[in-house]
Amino acid sequence: MDSILVKGNGALNGVIPIAGAKNACLTLMPATLLSEEPLTLTNAPRLSDIRTMTSLLESLGVEVSALQDGKVITMSSHGTLNPTADYDIVRKMRASNLVLGPLLARLGHAVVSLPGGCAIGARPMDIHIDALSALGAEIDLRDGYLDAKTQGGLKGAVHEMRFASVGATENFVMAATLAKGTSVLKNAAREPEIVDLVQCLRRMGAEIEGEGTSTITIQGVTALRGATHPVVTDRIELGTYMLAPAICGGEVECLGGRIDLLAAFCEKLDAAGISVTETEKGLKVARKNGRVKAVDVVTEPFPGFPTDLQAQMMALLCTAEGTSVLEEKIFENRFMHAPELMRMGARIEVHGGHATVHGVEKLRGAPVMATDLRASVSLILAGLAAEGETVVSRVYHLDRGYERVEEKLLACGAHIERISGV
Ligand code: EPZ
Repeated sequence: MDSILVKGNGALNGVIPIAGAKNACLTLMPATLLSEEPLTLTNAPRLSDIRTMTSLLESLGVEVSALQDGKVITMSSHGTLNPTADYDIVRKMRASNLVLGPLLARLGHAVVSLPGGCAIGARPMDIHIDALSALGAEIDLRDGYLDAKTQGGLKGAVHEMRFASVGATENFVMAATLAKGTSVLKNAAREPEIVDLVQCLRRMGAEIEGEGTSTITIQGVTALRGATHPVVTDRIELGTYMLAPAICGGEVECLGGRIDLLAAFCEKLDAAGISVTETEKGLKVARKNGRVKAVDVVTEPFPGFPTDLQAQMMALLCTAEGTSVLEEKIFENRFMHAPELMRMGARIEVHGGHATVHGVEKLRGAPVMATDLRASVSLILAGLAAEGETVVSRVYHLDRGYERVEEKLLACGAHIERISGV
């Protein structure tokens, strides 16, 4: 297992290109199952999660070809499709459950393994099941698999979700595009990745309105065509790299960055004393003057503060002036980076869904362990600003969601290198 060595090296200055969004690409790829014609995605990120989704789609009978070193992905599901998504693949990546809706819509049958829990929580699927059942799916749990069938195809329906689940919204919307009649999804998630999915489905001939709001209306059609669609900028990678100059000092321009993708996050950066300026190419970020100030953070569904930036924000607040309280309201166990940050001298008290961070002047480098994707990058951010060396182990977590981290940070003056493990 590889590790990454980081050594505090002062301010960071330079330009960082932001890739296409992992969490958009992971829902755009299963959309190919909705059409017999090819779907091509451009600006795709080069990540292990994308390779996992590729393997899953190929196991279902989809032909997948990657061009331009993986930035362009063309998929075709014109052949005979297999309705079963195996546990071996699904357990590695929860987003595999996003083939459930498209397979049901296309084949009238889907057998998808329950993903099982992951480091940050139990990750149940009840909201997905309720949403697809509203469209007429009969879903049984058998041997750890969801076995979903429809008699005579899905039928449009009005459904209100108990919680604005991102994945359940995506499964419902994809399935409803081929249902008979009109569907209305209430309390829908509003994330930019859902807006991106709807824009792609519309290119494929779907009739959908309301994306980005809490009510999405879908008029079912008999078939969808192929399309070419650019994956939206990754707002979580963007926010992560915006925090690099915030933690270390200096000024970094994030190419492709857009404030509308991260308004709540940018408001918190401003309150903490970080300046964010829109440029022609993206967002320029710098620490204003003096020490970062403590701020309180509550994670919420979009447009609130994103849970996927909570760990990274905690790294910034570890050296802020004052005390910050972070409340994690989306996942039940998403503070595992806290004990690792404490190994670097951070002062953090975790009680249930609240973490209280008492800012210290400086963190000190130490060997630490990545526990999940976003925790891994928060430890790297902390190491960039710490005195001495930090070695982050188990960086396979990192490679799931961040392409070429060392390269992007080296270009801004960071002291960072990958240590190949056995
Ligand atoms: C998506 O996961 C993202 N993943 C997550 O990013 C992100 O943290 C999450 O949305 C919230 O924004 C992808 O898009 C691939 P949810 P998803 O359904 O769809 C509970 C990352 O780091 N829930 O909105 O799984 C669930 O347990 C990843 O890139 C149910 O109880 O998120 C969680 O507590 C991590 N029953 C909350 O809702 C369900 O049926 C939010 O889940 C579904 C979800």
